[in-house]
Amino acid sequence: MKGIILAGGKGTRLYPNTLVVSKQLLPVYDKPLIYYPLSTLLLADIKDILIISTPYDTPNFQRLLGDGSKLGVSIQYAVQDTPRGLADAFILGKDFIGNDDVCLILGDNIFYGRHFGQTLREARLKVEDGSANIFAYCVKHPNEFGVVEFDDNFKAVSIEEKPKKPKSNYAVPGLYFYNNSVVDVAANVKPSARGEIEITSINNYYLEKEMLKVSVLGRGMAWLDTGSPKGMFKAGNYVKNIQEMQGFYIACIEEIAWRRGFIDDNQLEKLGNEMISTEYGKYIISLLEDKNI
Ligand code: DAU
Repeated sequence: MKGIILAGGKGTRLYPNTLVVSKQLLPVYDKPLIYYPLSTLLLADIKDILIISTPYDTPNFQRLLGDGSKLGVSIQYAVQDTPRGLADAFILGKDFIGNDDVCLILGDNIFYGRHFGQTLREARLKVEDGSANIFAYCVKHPNEFGVVEFDDNFKAVSIEEKPKKPKSNYAVPGLYFYNNSVVDVAANVKPSARGEIEITSINNYYLEKEMLKVSVLGRGMAWLDTGSPKGMFKAGNYVKNIQEMQGFYIACIEEIAWRRGFIDDNQLEKLGNEMISTEYGKYIISLLEDKNI
């Protein structure tokens, strides 16, 4: 399975912070925002990754993450000239995806919770029969998101993009698993009233074909908002609090690459030493000292 991180857009809701820096490069406490969606792909055991961003920002992502070899994975880059919509990921990513299934994560989506890695690795398998697998997460203000409605048996019956009158409180987070057929589906998506090729149109295609699986992420999972300065600040506080309380780091990409067996002890040590003057670097080295955690 291939993985795509969509990390473009103008970030207008975060101006002036994002006037010259991509939103996905802003810090969420101690690491850039893109580390969080990247850690989700690594947890899903996805080692072939494409990062899509703007012409201006792509070189910065390249400087930050390189070709991925430090993490034992492959990272490629593609440029999106203008934010045409989320479905563009599968048009720009067509050659990269090839004949594989694909997971798309939005570059500003942060997930954290128990058994999340297992949930992701199960979602990969669920699309092998030609389906799509998306997630649902209960929120207070669903009108800001894609919204999925369920029947009494918890079967998805409708999905609407930012509806004025949401039919449920279940938002669709920016994490989607698709069978390879999504490449053809995306090629035929027509722009919506707001002029974007919507991911919700793709999801509706699979829903109509009865090929859409929706996994509910329970209340034990955190899906953090980064849509406003307040959201970014709260997300940073959340990460700081959990890391300080538990001693475990959230979205330490080097740790995940090591735990999933993509890199060995020596490679991890080298990465830690490159940042040894920071708490982050010291944490990486501490992993080698106490392997029982
Ligand atoms: O976060 C979950 C929500 O993401 C879903 O519930 C919605 O169904 C989905 O449409 C999307 O809504 P947003 O309002 O968050 O989408 P936004 O246009 O802000 O784009 C999300 C991220 O993707 C953002 O960081 C910018 C990036 N992006 C967006 C577009 C439209 C791109 O890189 N290229 C694009 O063409």
